[in-house]
Amino acid sequence: MKLIAPSILSADFTTLGDEIRNVEAAGADWIHIDVMDGHFVPNITMGPVIVEAVKKVTELPLDVHLMIERPDQFIPEFVNAGADLISVHVETCPHLNRTIDLIRCSECRAGVVLNPATSLSTIEWILEYIDFVLLMSVNPGFGGQSFISNTIDKTRQLKRMIEKKGLSTLIQIDGGVNEKTIYSISKAGADVFVAGSAIFGTGDYKKTIKKLKDKLTDPS
Ligand code: DX5
Ligand code: ZN
Repeated sequence: MKLIAPSILSADFTTLGDEIRNVEAAGADWIHIDVMDGHFVPNITMGPVIVEAVKKVTELPLDVHLMIERPDQFIPEFVNAGADLISVHVETCPHLNRTIDLIRCSECRAGVVLNPATSLSTIEWILEYIDFVLLMSVNPGFGGQSFISNTIDKTRQLKRMIEKKGLSTLIQIDGGVNEKTIYSISKAGADVFVAGSAIFGTGDYKKTIKKLKDKLTDPS
């Protein structure tokens, strides 16, 4: 089962409720929420208040991607706001097991995120304790950047690592996912596809999401 997670970073914030209802009606599977603190990444975006508001307008799982320093300090707030999945960057967590335990002691599913240049070896000993791995295919901070192509090889290697351990950890890819890139990412073994600028702002979300889903298995 492959899933599409629209990133609301590219949505029209003046009509955020409608944007979310529209992607839900168009076949989105998760809603991806990018939280940035202006320290770990060079941009500031949303916090728990937005998660709480989004929760009121959709039944879809809320996938909260924390691009923040000291995530432990804020995880309980995001849980209370209605997050269903929370991912933290390995680059921000010196005590990763503790952080993952903090996420999983709530009902939330836990993910670990790797920047494009961060090695897969950094998650070798956490893999069995998490629900998903998010491989960044751009340097985090902004929507609309180009896909970094060696993420394909990294995805293949991660897939092998997961299979070798006999796990069912999901692989999520974030950054530059669009109609042109999604097939090779899918073929490499990814399960969840975050897409911001490839969805929001396009006229017909139903058509856009259908096209992305078709392209998961069809390269033409
Ligand atoms: C980047 C964010 C992404 C971003 C993706 O730091 O984590 O979720 O919104 O945007 P696109 O799909 O436009 O590359
Ligand atoms: Zn993201």
